[in-house]
Amino acid sequence: MYQIVTGPLLWLSFAIFFGGCLFHVINYFKGLDSRVDRVTYKVNTRHGVRAALRSIGVWILPFGTRSWRVKPGYTLLFYLFHVGALSVPLFASGHAVIITQRWGLNWPSMPDMLADALTLGVMLAVFGIFIRRLILPEVRIISSGWDWLTLAISAAPFFTGFIAYHQLGSGHFWTLAHILFGEILLIAVPFTKLFHMVLFFCTRIQIGMDFGIKRGGMKSPGFPW
Ligand code: HEM
Repeated sequence: MYQIVTGPLLWLSFAIFFGGCLFHVINYFKGLDSRVDRVTYKVNTRHGVRAALRSIGVWILPFGTRSWRVKPGYTLLFYLFHVGALSVPLFASGHAVIITQRWGLNWPSMPDMLADALTLGVMLAVFGIFIRRLILPEVRIISSGWDWLTLAISAAPFFTGFIAYHQLGSGHFWTLAHILFGEILLIAVPFTKLFHMVLFFCTRIQIGMDFGIKRGGMKSPGFPW
């Protein structure tokens, strides 16, 4: 079982993740209509690129835009979740060892204590986001089964990884569960709202270029669209 999960199933998950993301990105940009979406890539490109980078930058920055500032509690939960969700899978020492052994890359890693603290942060944030979805009527009414499932799929690799690392149960079982849930997460990305991790950049680039070139961005330093 372990051989299958860390062999063919892992490769299949990576193939679906990267292939699916590439497919969506190509479709997204091909689907833009130069009249309806007012995209100009070849005219005033310098202004467009600058505005696209600015749009990505201010939206990534905690409290960088008004939307982040009007919901400070959610913003904190959001960053607590996303900082761990992105950095721990990439730089946890256990993952770095595997990347180095399997592909010979000199992959950087973070101290175990930091990975542990960030994982705890992710679990805490998931709990907060879950409660928020449950108790705020304006959020609950637009929450579908998929939103709950997406949250569960996002959280599962962290909960199981935490249990496996601290050996709170059968080490073999929880390590296997951790790898399987990580693969489920990768496979889910192109098919669910989790694709937002790529779409975020596509939309920010498009909107940034659009406003930076055509909607006043060339005349003023700009607004963080
Ligand atoms: C560069 C990568 C990523 C970016 C830019 C990003 C960005 C975002 C944004 C803008 C939102 C919406 C916030 C709002 O409701 O206003 C969001 C929500 C969410 N993201 Fe990400 N994300 C990224 C990676 C990830 C990853 C790797 C995961 C899973 C492990 C993830 C899971 C989620 C979940 C579950 C929500 C919904 C939270 C809720 O239920 O309200 N994201 N993300």
